[in-house]
Amino acid sequence: MFKFDFFNVEKPEEAPQATNFGREPVLHQLADFKYQPKRISYSFYEDLVRRDLYDVMYELKQRSDLNEEEKLLLESNSDLESNVYEGGLKVWEGSYDLVKVLKDSFNGDFQISGSRKYMELGCGAGLPLCLLLYKHIQQNIPGKFVFADYNEAVLSLLTVPNILLIYLSARNLLPENENEINTDPEMLKSMVKDLDNVGIEIEIVSGAWGAQFTKLTGESDFDLVLASETVYSLESLPSFTKVTVSALKPGASALVAAKQVYFGVGGGVIEFLRLLDAEGLHHSTVAEYGESVKRVVLEVKK
Ligand SMILES: C[S@@+](CC[C@H](N)C(=O)[O-])C[C@H]1O[C@@H](n2cnc3c(N)ncnc32)[C@H](O)[C@@H]1O
Repeated sequence: MFKFDFFNVEKPEEAPQATNFGREPVLHQLADFKYQPKRISYSFYEDLVRRDLYDVMYELKQRSDLNEEEKLLLESNSDLESNVYEGGLKVWEGSYDLVKVLKDSFNGDFQISGSRKYMELGCGAGLPLCLLLYKHIQQNIPGKFVFADYNEAVLSLLTVPNILLIYLSARNLLPENENEINTDPEMLKSMVKDLDNVGIEIEIVSGAWGAQFTKLTGESDFDLVLASETVYSLESLPSFTKVTVSALKPGASALVAAKQVYFGVGGGVIEFLRLLDAEGLHHSTVAEYGESVKRVVLEVKK
């Protein structure tokens, strides 16, 4: 007869500790950013150029000098791994929703006077903030742009190449009928110099949301905070909410794209709204998408 021997069950091996790559927030200057790819292949989403995601994986497979975080991204088979890799190497649906909301809001005619400060939290590819950066560069409007992601490797492999591509595209410097460019660190440096002359400043921040993150990025300083697919985890939702709200100037807004529910992870819109209500913050739904799994873009006002 089968008998379950409770006391003699082998003790399971200690689960390996999650390595919190880049957990401590770090502010990187774009010109000094560790800039890896020597060649970038790209394609367009509407008028927005971005690095092909398969090109990132190709690069990781080719290089023999991967750091620990890059090795992990290469080996990871899942969309995200809590506190290790938080999903930035994929463009999630919410990013496209947010791009659409931004485009609709300026209806083809992006007109602003004076400088603006923007931040995209959990940016990954950073398409929504890249759209605003593109408009500012095209029209030589000053502004500050902070791209933040949990994983430094995501920033160096995807976000920074996308910023460079957006710059080249806005300045009409991308070769015609090509889908690849050769790059070198000098390109990044001359981009920074050119943007400096216009008053466009770009900062890159890696690491986890929290008090230290806010200290680095600035409090009550931003005119607009963007985020997409960042409310999926019950664990990080309070710090995400706090960082978002702290960043905004009084009266300023955040646009947050999210799925109504994230099956199997626990977070979602209801939990996010509950935290906003507890803080007495005004919120409204500015767009709704999706059939079976509903997606929304929320505006949160400080
Ligand atoms: C699902 S991905 C979404 C990426 C991108 N916004 C998109 O929609 O394509 C979630 C993003 O949130 C960021 N993130 C998740 N947890 C975080 C945390 N605790 N601190 C900082 N960033 C975090 C990750 O860097 C990741 O890029």
